[in-house]
Order: sequence, then C-alpha cells, then structure tokens
Amino acid sequence: MSEMQNNSSGPRVFLACDLPDIVQRVFFDRFPTTANDKGRTLTSDELLQGVQGHDVLVLTATDRLDERIVAQLPDSVRVVCTYSIGMEHLAIEALKARGIAVLATPDVLSESCADVAMLLMLGAARRVIESSALVRTGEWRGWTPRQLLGVDVWGRRLGILGMGRIGRAIAKRARGFDMEIHYHNRSRLAPELEAGATYHDSLAQLAAHSDFLCVACPSNAGTRGLVNAEIIARLPANAIVCNIARGDIIDDAALVAALETGKVAAAGLDVFAGEPDIHPAYRTLPNVFGLPHIGSATEATRVAMGRLLCEGIDAFFGGKEPVNRVA
Ligand code: DGY
Repeated sequence: MSEMQNNSSGPRVFLACDLPDIVQRVFFDRFPTTANDKGRTLTSDELLQGVQGHDVLVLTATDRLDERIVAQLPDSVRVVCTYSIGMEHLAIEALKARGIAVLATPDVLSESCADVAMLLMLGAARRVIESSALVRTGEWRGWTPRQLLGVDVWGRRLGILGMGRIGRAIAKRARGFDMEIHYHNRSRLAPELEAGATYHDSLAQLAAHSDFLCVACPSNAGTRGLVNAEIIARLPANAIVCNIARGDIIDDAALVAALETGKVAAAGLDVFAGEPDIHPAYRTLPNVFGLPHIGSATEATRVAMGRLLCEGIDAFFGGKEPVNRVA
C-alpha cells in the first residue's frame, strides 16, 4: 500500500478501492491517507490488513463487506465510506451493530447517470451498435430508405422503475424529448417531485404503460429479479428495456428470451448481473446496446463523489451529522 502522508492531522483514511489519481488527491490533500496501489480490487485479507491503524475505510461497490469481514474490522474504524450510490455490497446491519457510521455518494452522480440513461434509450432505439459497426467496418454502401430503421424516442411513454434522485433526473431529461412520464416507486411522490408524472401502484401496471421501461431503483431483497417474464409480458409490443441501476433487478433469461423473439425490440444496459461475466447473449444479440457500467464515469462526477465523502468525514469527526450518512 502506498502511504500518502501529508501535514494534516485528523482521521487516518484507508482507500481500499483504486480511485482515479485526481480523486486520491482530494483525500490526500485533507487527510493522512493510505491508498491501494495494486491497481485492482483487494482481496478481503488485503483489505483487512490495509485498514489496520485507520479510522476510515473507503471502498466501492466491487468490494464486498459482508458480516464476516465487518466482524474483523479493527476497532479503530469508525466510518466506512462507499464510493458509490449502491449499497448492496455492505452488511449495513452488522456495521450499525458495531457502531460504525456509513457514508455514500448520493446526489452528486444523479445527473451523470441520467445522461447515460438517455444514452441507453437513444442507443437502443436508434440501433447505434449496428449503425456504428457499419461505419467502422467500411461496409456502409450509402444512405438507403430501408437502412437501420429504429423506433422513436420522442413522444413515447417512459416508465421509470424507482423515482429517486436518478429517476427524477431521467424524467427531467425525458420531458425535453416530449416523453410522457410514468413511474412506480415504493410510495407515491409529493406533487412537486412528481411534476406531472403518472404514478402506478404496481410494476405490472407501469409495464403496461411503458414503451420504454427504465430501471433506476436500488438492488435489494425486494427488487432483485423484479423485472421478470411476467412483467416483460405486460410491456406493449416493440418496447425497449433500459437499466441504469443494477443488473440483478432484471431476470436475464426472461429478457434475453424476449429480445430473441422480438417481444422486446431492444435493450440498453449499463449494468449487468455478475459483472463482468455477463449473460453471453448480451454480447451477441444485435438489439442489445451494452455499456460497461459507466453511469457516473465523468471526471467531474468522480471528483464530486470524492469531495462529498471527504466533507462527510470532516463532519463526522467534527461532531456534526454528515449529509451523506446512510447508516
Ligand atoms: C454506484 O455509484 O453505485 C455506481 O453504480 C458504481 O457502483
């Protein structure tokens, strides 16, 4: 591990995840910091070894912190920061039981993720993979009226599963495409947040009103496998399914079958179950527009995520409630 000691005193931070240099610098400038310099995800033994003597552990969605590892964290650790909005990799109850605070990165990545959700819808609907391949392979023989007919995004019905901050940022963009917004959420939003979107109290109802179904809810015991064959069957003909949240919310076998038969016209997927070992059909089906989990991947957003965690650490050790505390 590389020690990056600066002159500041304060909580000792261990960066278990391999953050971009510019983000490591954000931590280094504020706290005595040790960073993972292996250029890969640490094993749990390496993580436990590295975090010895530190007050704060920073990790991300690819680092599993299960009950067994939480039990072995040194007593010095008072805060676990996840450099992500997703929290499915953390044994939250075990952390709470040990009195360890948990900070995450809500808000700061919503707009970037919503940009990618629009990209997924547009890319899937307008057959971007096939179109781009035609240009890159040199096989393009010029414009023809028959070539690569897709479906329109503008003016269609968008169903958003999960109307949290990312869902609402998607809705804001989609309104600019004259889309009609529908949503399903654990509970109905207040009118000012709903902003004219139509609430459906079941996912089946939402599906029946979704030319585009966009998954934007967290992955947890209640949402895993939620978009299954039964829900897919409720979608209108030629619907498009997009996922900006977590792969395991969609039943892959059901979606692949629907893509193969054309029941679902196309899918735009930024996230996959079992990343990076994804369902093989997603690599070969022409109607899948797949991206490698790039929702929050802009330099500005990644820096903002780091800054938010640093502010939370400062607040916590300064005796204040961090705005990004999630447990
Ligand atoms: C997040 O912030 O949860 C991203 O998906 C990275 O895991």
